[in-house]
Amino acid sequence: MDKRIAIITGAAKGIGKAIAERMVNENYTTILVDVDNENGEKLANDLGANARFISCDISNENGVTALFDAVKNEFGSVDVIVNNAGIIRDNVIWKMPVEDFDKVVDINLKGTWLMCKVAGTLMREQQSGRIVNIASRAWLGNRGQSNYSASKAGVVGLTRVLALELGKYGVLVNAIAPGLIDTPLTQKLPENVQEKLIEAQPTKSMGQPEDIANAVAFLCDSNTQFITGQTIYVDGGKSIGAGL
Ligand SMILES: NC(=O)c1ccc[n+]([C@@H]2O[C@H](COP(=O)([O-])OP(=O)(O)OC[C@H]3O[C@@H](n4cnc5c(N)ncnc54)[C@H](O)[C@@H]3O)[C@@H](O)[C@H]2O)c1
Repeated sequence: MDKRIAIITGAAKGIGKAIAERMVNENYTTILVDVDNENGEKLANDLGANARFISCDISNENGVTALFDAVKNEFGSVDVIVNNAGIIRDNVIWKMPVEDFDKVVDINLKGTWLMCKVAGTLMREQQSGRIVNIASRAWLGNRGQSNYSASKAGVVGLTRVLALELGKYGVLVNAIAPGLIDTPLTQKLPENVQEKLIEAQPTKSMGQPEDIANAVAFLCDSNTQFITGQTIYVDGGKSIGAGL
């Protein structure tokens, strides 16, 4: 097979959708993975013959194994994995139920780890591959996100370790830390909260899902060879300075 294969998790909407669209445009056979079957199927149909939807909960080990078995059987190899699926369950710690910690860590961190474990094993055998993990600028700390920030800090640590473990096998592993991006996830925030968040941005604007897709395309480009273990901020400058 000379066609490159990319797997994108959380691809049914938001940032994952923009990444899937971009990878199809970059001529990858693109596997869209999500638990949102309706939107995932529809998007894959809209994207045409180079896109395929596979339903999978990334926090379920058997599901992840079955996903890779299916992809390996059909395509033989995997060139790119973008671990983008993620959720929020925000609250200050004194009001946060343990279930909301577990759920967020289960999907954002354990799910990403499971995908990396299976993909990393396969890519090590292939002696090639790119893994891009979508973290968040929030790993630096956000009030009300003790679960989410911890999960994304875990994703940054995971990325750094895998860069060390997989580098000599030709596998590059990087993270992207998006800031405030206009997606169904942020559109759920009350309007006054959205306005405050935009005001706190150096650029006074939200990013678009395509801004993240651009960074993914750069990290997966065959001309990009010597970057690994890094976290690239795509956040309108929000990670710089202390706020005011
Ligand atoms: N939107 C932002 O401002 C922002 C900022 C920083 C980081 N991020 C991160 O970017 C990623 C995408 O965010 P988004 O804003 O597009 O979110 P979104 O809610 O719009 O889309 C997330 C997708 O992930 C899917 N998903 C959720 N749980 C899943 C699971 N267990 N298995 C498979 N798929 C699952 C959802 O069904 C959904 O389609 C997330 O990891 C998020 O934490 C987003």
